[in-house]
Amino acid sequence: MHWLHTVAALREQVAAWRGSTVGLVPTMGSLHKGHLSLIRRCRQECDITVVSIFVNPLQFGPSEDLERYPRTLEADRALCEAAGVDAVFAPTAEEMGAEQSSAADRTWVIPPDSLLQTLCAPHRPGHFRGVATIVLQLFHLVQPQRAYFGQKDAQQLVILQRMVQDLQLPITIVPCPTVRDPDGLAFSSRNQYLSAAERQEALGLYRALRRGYDHWRSGDPSAAGILAAAQAELSRYPHLQLQYLELVHPQTLQPLQKVDDKGLLAIAAYVGQTRLIDNLLLAVTPAEETPPFATTHPRELSGTSAPPRRPLIAIDGPAGAGKSTVARAVAAQLQLLYLDTGAMYRAITWLALQRGIPLDDAEQLTQLAAQTQLSLKSGDSAVEPTRIWANGEEITQAIRSPEVTHWVSQVAAVPGVRQELVKRQRSIGRDGGAVLEGRDIGTYVFPDAELKVFLTASVEERAQRRHNQLRAQGQQVTLEELEVQIQQRDRRDSERSISPLRPAPDAILIDTDHLSQTEVQDKIVSLYRQLLARSGTPCFDQ
Ligand code: PAJ
Repeated sequence: MHWLHTVAALREQVAAWRGSTVGLVPTMGSLHKGHLSLIRRCRQECDITVVSIFVNPLQFGPSEDLERYPRTLEADRALCEAAGVDAVFAPTAEEMGAEQSSAADRTWVIPPDSLLQTLCAPHRPGHFRGVATIVLQLFHLVQPQRAYFGQKDAQQLVILQRMVQDLQLPITIVPCPTVRDPDGLAFSSRNQYLSAAERQEALGLYRALRRGYDHWRSGDPSAAGILAAAQAELSRYPHLQLQYLELVHPQTLQPLQKVDDKGLLAIAAYVGQTRLIDNLLLAVTPAEETPPFATTHPRELSGTSAPPRRPLIAIDGPAGAGKSTVARAVAAQLQLLYLDTGAMYRAITWLALQRGIPLDDAEQLTQLAAQTQLSLKSGDSAVEPTRIWANGEEITQAIRSPEVTHWVSQVAAVPGVRQELVKRQRSIGRDGGAVLEGRDIGTYVFPDAELKVFLTASVEERAQRRHNQLRAQGQQVTLEELEVQIQQRDRRDSERSISPLRPAPDAILIDTDHLSQTEVQDKIVSLYRQLLARSGTPCFDQ
């Protein structure tokens, strides 16, 4: 991981990344699970992930907590390293020309007045121009194609989306769901200021929003009703000092009298000296409805009635067509379970290694697969990797060891193991609401999947993509070698006797030759939404 402090060092790296998709996650450090979810999403969608860590003086008012803001650079560095970040840009205020004292003598980006009339803006004069200015500066320095921001800071997100639109920047802003502790408290760097008693009080923010949300869900779209319900909950938290509780339109940020199609219910309050914010999106169009908990898989939502069974997506295609990246991204966006079949084979391989079972003993391996209890669950946020337990023990990390990587294909080739695991996949998939990918998911494992997609790409294109990937990792392989390897693999896959590679008759073919990963993702998401709209099933994405 590159650890960069100066603009000059950053520029050098940016030049070396030309040709790759660069994603930026701007932060002020003191990283927590919310930040990590942005990083994971970025890694899924981009070749290069850059995190900036900069406590930006330009966005703090004179009486705010700039001096006190937590700075944990060493811990942040370790977290970024572990999360697979390619580069961290952590400049000084001087390097960015952003000392508070420079305020009167620098160029600013001024967000539109219309977006500064509600929520945080009136309470934090100058805050959003400080945010927009530094983010534009970071965009210029890092030159990302994609940048990741949390819905937690909803007003910031809208303002930055408008900046990109108005200034015609060639950047896609990717909104990411708010990550919460299981009790509902949204992760925030400022949570560490809270004492245990204050943390209990801080739960009032989310609970008030939730009451408002539930009131709206029960059929009253009026702002008066929704706000009164939230206020009623707030009255149970006498130590919360409310700054605002507002219902606005999620894009225009103008106050709403009632929720027609969607609304943003947002709150800011002080708990002691600490100012916290939170929000929930209220949306009636099925494609945009947000679950009240973004921390869990929708199937595990508590406090709401069980959602109806949602369709399965089966993605097949030859090696190197980008199936797994696309499947993960689609699952994250639609908040479906990404049924990581590879992780299941890894789990059996890991257990076999643990128990000293010879990896060429098909019978013992089959028995092991038959006797092992496996459970899978979406990660703590919609974008964290699928978590996996074998016989009750969590092995999400353990199965990623190089040793398991080395042996897994040999174990997966054992027909008995395969049969066992396909049985498990079918039983998990029966509940619906999952994305699966492989080379025979739509033809063999789930011939009844509601949406089947077959991703293809020419040999040349797949070789080129692999070549770019390997080059970014500093590995040298010629394009010709890769083309030969891919041709051989295709031949093996389509000629094998069990489930040869071919599209299911009802699969939708997507040729990805001239499409970016995001375009492929968008196509599948839109096919899924069409399917839901036809069946009248709600969808839980952002
Ligand atoms: P910071 O508060 O560090 O947040 C960095 C990013 O993480 C923001 O996009 C924020 O919305 C997101 N984030 C924070 N808490 C989250 C949570 N619980 N779930 C999901 N995402 C979460 O926001 C800033 O820094 C600054 O204003 C910045 C954009 C870096 C400009 O200085």
